[in-house]
Amino acid sequence: MIMRRSFFAFAFVAIAAFVLPLTVAAQGVPKGCVSCHTGDRVVPKMLAKIPGHPNVANLIKSVPDGCLMCHKAGAPKAPTLMKAIHTVHHIPLATASTTAADVKGSCLNCHIVTDSTISIKKAPRNW
Ligand code: HEC
Ligand code: HEC
Ligand code: HEC
Repeated sequence: MIMRRSFFAFAFVAIAAFVLPLTVAAQGVPKGCVSCHTGDRVVPKMLAKIPGHPNVANLIKSVPDGCLMCHKAGAPKAPTLMKAIHTVHHIPLATASTTAADVKGSCLNCHIVTDSTISIKKAPRNW
């Protein structure tokens, strides 16, 4: 029984030590885009600042995956969603050699990371 308890105590400390530094940066941003972009800064209002961007407020139901209808790889007029979103947030463009281990700190505002995968936080629109 004593060994069991101390094992759990050790496991908790070890997990806290490795996980906390990664999650702290993304605290308060559980839903990605819509956690930061609220009120006067909802995504369609931000897009209105981009000259010539179509008004997509009624078209998009989920952010940012809804944006892929125009921003997918190979689309003729719009950059890929990664290029568009990384660029406006001053994030370097990821390359084929970017690994899950590279995604930390501020990257976790928008991404969910496991040992081997990177995915994007998405949520229903908030406007
Ligand atoms: C951690 C907070 C945060 C998160 C998460 C976030 N943004 Fe932003 N976003 C910002 C800030 C800060 C700016 C810059 C505002 C400024 O310069 O006035 C910005 C700017 C923008 C702009 C305006 C670009 C321009 O040219 O003016 C768009 C569009 C945008 N974000 C969309 C998104 C989308 C889509 C997501 C999710 C993939 C997202 N943001 C996630 C904070 C965030
Ligand atoms: C109906 C098609 C369409 C939809 C839907 C759409 N976009 Fe766009 N977007 C474009 C086009 C076309 C451009 C290129 C505009 C230009 O360069 O003149 C663009 C450009 C951008 C840029 C500027 C990139 C840069 O390098 O300056 C950002 C950021 C962006 N879109 C974000 C979004 C987000 C976020 C969404 C979803 C909420 C979205 N877009 C949905 C068509 C679309
Ligand atoms: C403001 C939000 C935001 C931040 C911060 C951000 N990303 Fe992204 N990232 C995106 C979006 C949006 C995509 C496109 C997702 C899609 O196509 O479904 C993307 C795509 C990617 C991809 C490609 C994933 C795939 O499945 O194709 C990689 C790799 C990546 N980001 C790495 C990073 C790294 C590394 C950082 C930190 C240095 C970072 N990102 C920070 C929004 C962000």
